[in-house]
Amino acid sequence: MALWKNPRWYDAIKRTKQLDDHVQRTGRAAFGLKTYGETEKVDAVTCHFNRVATKYDFMNSLLSFGIQQAWKRKAVRLLALNRGDKVLDVCGGTGDLARLAASRIGPKGQVVTYDINRAMMEVGRRKFFESSLNDRIFWVQGDAERISFPEHSFNAAMVGFGIRNLTHLKKGFQEMHRVLKPGGKLLCLEFSKPTHPVFRMVYDIYSFNIMPLLGQLIVGSAESYACLSETIRMFPLPEELSAILRNTGFQKINYHRMTNSIAVVHVGLKE
Ligand SMILES: C[S@@+](CC[C@H](N)C(=O)[O-])C[C@H]1O[C@@H](n2cnc3c(N)ncnc32)[C@H](O)[C@@H]1O
Repeated sequence: MALWKNPRWYDAIKRTKQLDDHVQRTGRAAFGLKTYGETEKVDAVTCHFNRVATKYDFMNSLLSFGIQQAWKRKAVRLLALNRGDKVLDVCGGTGDLARLAASRIGPKGQVVTYDINRAMMEVGRRKFFESSLNDRIFWVQGDAERISFPEHSFNAAMVGFGIRNLTHLKKGFQEMHRVLKPGGKLLCLEFSKPTHPVFRMVYDIYSFNIMPLLGQLIVGSAESYACLSETIRMFPLPEELSAILRNTGFQKINYHRMTNSIAVVHVGLKE
């Protein structure tokens, strides 16, 4: 919880140790500072989101001062969806990106929110029950590393603040690539490293002191929110993520930094 536990921003070598090859070689996967057996991390992640599900949306808005909604709106705008598109929201959670996509694809379009955690999706389903967009949004429980749709099923695939949680991040992108139609677009919205050193220092203090404190007071778990900050500091930087996407087969990759790079959105194309 305290600053002395701050793992600092990982360097390039340590960041590669979060990736599939290292996990497969060592049989260990990190979730924040803790490590788990390769097949066990998914259970730890599920427990984490079970714990925070009912307060997830509120905490996101509180901790980001509401800015995360603006990031999500901008990200979905950059995806440039068309009317009638079929969209997959991987690690969709409570469905924020799904709702934004649904409002852009018209009545003939469909969005599938795909998440391993039932508690998160239950919160989302209740949220949109009365919404006019409800009949365009579908909820499917499943693992992002084994997406339960055939290849060439979707015009677009999105993942917002979720890919960091997978045991095998590259496998998640490969699966998104597989289920996209040729010409389909990928959107990845993730946290990253603030570029300005002073801003970064303030962000670090906030992340490892205020966020866990609020986590303890509101959700009853400081650890859950310290873990969130740790995973962010281990995640590939934007250029590294672009290279991973390129190696997965995506092309025309662009990324946009938001709020001094606290959040970055990558967009790519499956040709
Ligand atoms: C931080 S939340 C993001 C939710 C939503 N996309 C948003 O932007 O608010 C991460 C989500 O990833 C889901 N998740 C984690 N591991 C997963 C996996 N292996 N397969 C599918 N979903 C997973 C969690 O259950 C959680 O709902």
